[in-house]
Amino acid sequence: MKNTVVTFRQMKEKGEKISMLTAYDYSTAKLMDEAGVNSILVGDSLGNVILGYEDTISVTMEDMIHHGAAVARGAKNALVIIDMPFMSYQTSVYDAVVNAGRLMKEGRAGAVKLEGGAEVVPQIRAITAAGIPVCAHLGLTPQSINAFGGFKVQGKTEAAAKKLLADAEAVQEAGAFAVVLEGIPRKLADLITEKLVIPTIGIGAGNGCDGQVLVYQDMLGMFSDFTPKFVKCYAKLGEVMKDAFARYREEIQSGAFPAEEHEYKMDDDIIEKLY
Ligand code: KIV
Repeated sequence: MKNTVVTFRQMKEKGEKISMLTAYDYSTAKLMDEAGVNSILVGDSLGNVILGYEDTISVTMEDMIHHGAAVARGAKNALVIIDMPFMSYQTSVYDAVVNAGRLMKEGRAGAVKLEGGAEVVPQIRAITAAGIPVCAHLGLTPQSINAFGGFKVQGKTEAAAKKLLADAEAVQEAGAFAVVLEGIPRKLADLITEKLVIPTIGIGAGNGCDGQVLVYQDMLGMFSDFTPKFVKCYAKLGEVMKDAFARYREEIQSGAFPAEEHEYKMDDDIIEKLY
């Protein structure tokens, strides 16, 4: 069944949990889609896990469109959400609508995601008014890493928790169809989830959210630069891959690969004429 923003709302109403994973390419998106994952986020985490940057700041619109379109070609049923990269929406409402439009037209997204609360309400209003569904993102928002002074759990003081709750209500009121809650205490995520009618998607926000999202390289054990506490590793694919790469190298060196079954044949009398 095709997942849409309407499905998200219905799932919250029925108490059904929403599954979301990040992906950045066609083959991975196709596997996730076939596994029945509800939504695929083309996160700007591609800056870290695909492009090797230490943060998401340098990711461009072209990066997001290129990878987003590949994911969209692989996802038949999952709702594809593409992240708006740093400075593609903060600069003005006009930039936000134009860039969200590019992610839909060129990236073939089903929705876009942007980071921030009350300060991006005008952008959320304008993008949704243009017919583009917006997923908001609050808490430990990676594009603000320099303002936070590092990867620190957000919303722990009374003032910070109040601000997060007010931001969640503001983005909902502005028209967001869902909100990602990242790196906040579980009890605060539970409260926000209870107060909102739109679904909350947690990452490092505990089990009470309406859905969960993980970066797929983290959950498959493929990314070792750093592993946050909230990650669960479902398979050690990094080790499986390294072992396969090493065996491939060894078999080339030993001559075991390619074997006869990997070769193409031709008639001997034709090749003999060439000698
Ligand atoms: O970029 C990303 O992958 C994200 C998720 C971590 C929510 O925004």
